[in-house]
Amino acid sequence: MKQDMIVILDLGSTENTALAREIRNLGVYSEIYPHDITVTELRTLPNVKGIVVYGGPNNIINGEKIDISQEVYNTDYPIMAIAHENIGSEYNFSTWEEASPQLKSFVFDVCGAEANWNMENFVADQVELIRNQVGNKKVLLALSGGVDSSVVAALLIKAIGKQLVCVHVNHGLMRKDESENVVEVFGKQLDANLVYVDASERYLTKLAGIADPEQKRKIIGAEFIRIFEEESRRLGGNEAIGFLAQGTIYPDIVESGTKTAKVIKSHHNVGGLPEDMKFELVEPIRQLFKDEVRACGLELGLPDEMVYRQPFPGPGLGVRCLGAITRERLTAVRESDAILREEFKIAGLDKKVWQYFTAVPDFKSVGMRDNARSIEYTVIIRAVNTIDAMTAAIEEIEWPLLQKITGRILAEVDNVNRVCYDLSPKPVATIEWE
Ligand code: XMP
Repeated sequence: MKQDMIVILDLGSTENTALAREIRNLGVYSEIYPHDITVTELRTLPNVKGIVVYGGPNNIINGEKIDISQEVYNTDYPIMAIAHENIGSEYNFSTWEEASPQLKSFVFDVCGAEANWNMENFVADQVELIRNQVGNKKVLLALSGGVDSSVVAALLIKAIGKQLVCVHVNHGLMRKDESENVVEVFGKQLDANLVYVDASERYLTKLAGIADPEQKRKIIGAEFIRIFEEESRRLGGNEAIGFLAQGTIYPDIVESGTKTAKVIKSHHNVGGLPEDMKFELVEPIRQLFKDEVRACGLELGLPDEMVYRQPFPGPGLGVRCLGAITRERLTAVRESDAILREEFKIAGLDKKVWQYFTAVPDFKSVGMRDNARSIEYTVIIRAVNTIDAMTAAIEEIEWPLLQKITGRILAEVDNVNRVCYDLSPKPVATIEWE
């Protein structure tokens, strides 16, 4: 293994992730584990040079103060106990700036760790770990084409090549050219073992006439699970496949709740997989933050468009083709979204704006086309900036660019006679329209 590691044991501090980042900023890899980790479990982790125990004011669960086990204290791993302000610990600090020299001295002088955390070493280590975990068994991966699943796919292809089976389900609600890009990059360029399932018709049939957004989401999610199960069975099921790879990243773990952190938001993503699948999990990027996942993708040679892809909801264009989905309006969403993305890229806004897309409501308005009355659909442009998607501000698109985009949509997209620009921040609005 190429990288040293400092383990953080989680005593319920909300700042554990900041601490992990702080240590990684020193150039040393750091991972967070639950406070009740056993010595045996600790010893299976590679290259552990020391432990930081980080208690916040929240390290009381059900009236009891929690601590790490005595047997961990009894090991000869160097242990540093720190706390944020006035708690009776070895080290107290109120800013990371203040903590940094002490942390640095612990990590390098006491633990003797080397500053060898970089993406090249991370990839090399993960390749070794994956090979050790998987042996000669097969690994299944639902490859949506999003940043996380793409990076996992590239990492596994490097580690085990054709032992990885990627399943890409095109639910017909993908953006323009997106499924084609997955096939091009993974099927052709990286020569992956890729199963491409075109389920567009199946989805459109299931969704016909369904206008309620929650019901639409449920149908899209359930259908995904059914298709994934069918494919897994077709590939030989548990007999033939030993593992399931997932693009879980560190914020997913935090948001779904750890032993000590409260659940911030539960994930009901499409891409959520059947609970009764008996596969062992391979989650090579579960300790990475989003920017590190992108760096890992670049290190693995994935194209920029894939690595810097904007967030895209699991139910895809399904929640942007408002109300009951029709082919006509789905095409209008897809084509107008493609124009918006193209123009944002030309204007250099694609990496600057967090999320930008179009939505098409299920009503028509009156217009004029070829000197006659036309009754057609409306395209709504949405562009927002946010840090955590809990609140969002509107991106102020320059007038000439808005006019150019509007002109193109009206000229190039069928069945559309009106373009609107949504100025509502979150809250009171949400980012998506449904
Ligand atoms: P809202 O609309 O709640 O969206 O402000 C916040 C962020 O979440 C995305 N989003 C979803 N992502 N499945 C997903 O995977 C969903 O059902 C879903 N709904 C919203 C949205 O695109 C935005 O980034």
